[in-house]
Amino acid sequence: MASKKIDLDILVEHARQAAQNSYSPYSGFRVGAALELTSGEVVTGTNVENVSYGLTLCAERAALASAVSQFGPRIRIAAVAIANLNSAPSTPCGACRQVLAEFILPEALVTFPMENGRHTLPFAELLPLAFSMKTKED
Ligand code: THU
Repeated sequence: MASKKIDLDILVEHARQAAQNSYSPYSGFRVGAALELTSGEVVTGTNVENVSYGLTLCAERAALASAVSQFGPRIRIAAVAIANLNSAPSTPCGACRQVLAEFILPEALVTFPMENGRHTLPFAELLPLAFSMKTKED
């Protein structure tokens, strides 16, 4: 599948914009995620917290749900940017990595803020040995 050239700086800007809409009254941590699809579309999401804390939706999963909702189940993610408005490190949490694994290309670059600046890694390095369900019949 052909993918357009990805400008990660622009994708980070989309993620920052998405974080402006964060609903995070409990943590105050305002996260945004931007997914670039192999079609070239960019889809964003932000974290949506809940008073029942465990029901909180992370920005990455919000973006993914939006992408599938808008473009259907055959989407593939070519790049991901994560940003926050708290000047804090924010790697995607383990649950989000596993959820992204369902739709992301292993070589897709994922960029996120760390203590010493932005880090960019291929997804396969962020979640080696992702769970996948292979039965004997597969
Ligand atoms: N959060 C995300 O949006 N993405 C992550 O990968 C980790 C955490 C959000 C959830 C919660 O609203 C806030 O950050 C603090 O955990």
